[in-house]
Amino acid sequence: MKSAARILFVCLGNICRSPMAEAVMRHLVKEEGLSDRIEIDSAGTGDWHLGHPPHEGTRKILDEHQISYEGMKSRLVDKADFSSFHYLICMDTKNLKDVNELITNAVPKIGAANGSSAKVLTFMELLPDRGIADVPDPYYEGNFPFVYELVDEGCRALLKQIKADLALE
Ligand code: 4NP
Repeated sequence: MKSAARILFVCLGNICRSPMAEAVMRHLVKEEGLSDRIEIDSAGTGDWHLGHPPHEGTRKILDEHQISYEGMKSRLVDKADFSSFHYLICMDTKNLKDVNELITNAVPKIGAANGSSAKVLTFMELLPDRGIADVPDPYYEGNFPFVYELVDEGCRALLKQIKADLALE
C-alpha cells in the first residue's frame, strides 16, 4: 500500500491550465483532510513566464470559486520531477509528447533502472466520457469557465482514483 501520492500537473506556460488544476486539486484534497497524504504541484514545458503568478483569467475563476492560488509561481518541469512525482498529468497531448521526450532524455541521467516510475497521462484520460483529447488552452482560446469545468470534474475523478490507490476507500 502506498502511503502518499505526489502529483504534478504539466502544461505549456504553467500560468493557465496546470496552476488551475494544482489549485483546484489542493482545495479538494484539503476539504477531505488529506493534505498530509497527497502533494500537488504544477510546472510548464515552456519558459516564457518563469516566476510569474497564474494568468489573470485563472486567478479570476479561482477567486469566483474561493480557491486559493497563494504563492504559486510558474516553473519549468525538471528531470528531478520524473523520479519524485508518482503522477505526471499533462493538460494536452502536446504536453504529453514533450514530457515523454524529456523523460527519455533524462532517464540515463536520473539513473532509473527501467525508466521513470511516474505514471504519465493526459488530464482528459481522467474524463473518458467527455470524448475530448486536450484541455483547451485558454491563453489562446479564452473560455476559462469551460476549462474550469473540465479541471474541477477531472480533479474529482483523480482524487477518487488516488484514494483507491492509497486504500482510503
Ligand atoms: P498554459 O497556457 O499552458 O495553460 O499555461 C499558455 C500560457 C502561455 C503561453 C502559452 C500557453 N505562451 O505562449 O506564453
